[in-house]
Amino acid sequence: MQNRPTQKFSGGWRMRVSLAKALFMEPTLLMLDEPTNHLDLNAVIWLNNYLQGWRKTLLIVSHDQGFLDDAPPVLGLHGVTFGYEGQKPLFKNLDFGIDMDSRICIVSPNGVGESTLLLLLTGKLTPTHGEMRKNHRLKIGFFNQQYAERLHMEETPTEYLQRSFNLPYQDARKCLGCFGLESHAHTIQICKLSGGQKARVVFAELACREPDVLILDEPTNNLDIESISALGEAINEYKGAVIAVSHDARLITETNCQLWVVEEQSVSQIDGDFQDYKREVLEALGKVMVNRPRE
Ligand SMILES: Nc1ncnc2c1ncn2[C@@H]1O[C@H](COP(=O)(O)OP(=O)(O)O)[C@@H](O)[C@H]1O
Ligand SMILES: [Mg+2]
Repeated sequence: MQNRPTQKFSGGWRMRVSLAKALFMEPTLLMLDEPTNHLDLNAVIWLNNYLQGWRKTLLIVSHDQGFLDDAPPVLGLHGVTFGYEGQKPLFKNLDFGIDMDSRICIVSPNGVGESTLLLLLTGKLTPTHGEMRKNHRLKIGFFNQQYAERLHMEETPTEYLQRSFNLPYQDARKCLGCFGLESHAHTIQICKLSGGQKARVVFAELACREPDVLILDEPTNNLDIESISALGEAINEYKGAVIAVSHDARLITETNCQLWVVEEQSVSQIDGDFQDYKREVLEALGKVMVNRPRE
């Protein structure tokens, strides 16, 4: 077939030839106009798989929803294995990715590696095998309590925001106010703030960064009930992707997140909502209680 004139080929084969030509060049910008038209399913699967590993810019016109949905995640872990030195791996060959509309809450027992997962996603930890890949223009906003404890403690929240974002005094104060920091706390040193107040300063800072993805590690620690509700509302209004590790029932139910769980050195989506998860946990606990010999 390779020696036959291309006019003699069917649409599907012509499409393969022109794809081969385009891909052979390994261009920095690949433009595909309805690439799945005329292709049989095997060829679509092949192309789909090939483009998963595409590292350069890809511009596609397509009406094939399934094909587009498979356009790789904006942020993901690919074949990732990770363990802290001298410990058994927390993750093995993990594939996990998010899109711009992902709303994910990770719920697991403590110590299984939730925080580690977020550190791998933000690139603060490097996998032993595999890699983290992210869209190079993606801005990630990250919150954890340690981060809140590492703010510039000598500055006031207002000075901190003004300096970090070149904001006028009033704008910095307005932003802090939006995140529920009482006005008297705007102008005292950060080291004198409570844990919950520091968290609000970090949330205000995050908002100023206008991230595309929010990665939050136990954001409700130190927050009172009202603030947890406010955080839930803020997350619901936020247009980007959210991945949070949280064990706070209120936050989980208010934000309608998909629940994922870290288990067996991997991460998997839980079938069902928070109520189903609660039932599962209770059933598992029930079995333990029943099996335990009476004293
Ligand atoms: N920097 C570190 N060095 C060594 N071991 C760590 C480190 N950070 C966490 N661990 C261990 O890795 C496991 C998972 O930690 P972590 O991801 O923080 O758990 P969690 O699911 O509670 O967030 C724990 O057993 C913890 O003791
Ligand atoms: Mg943790």
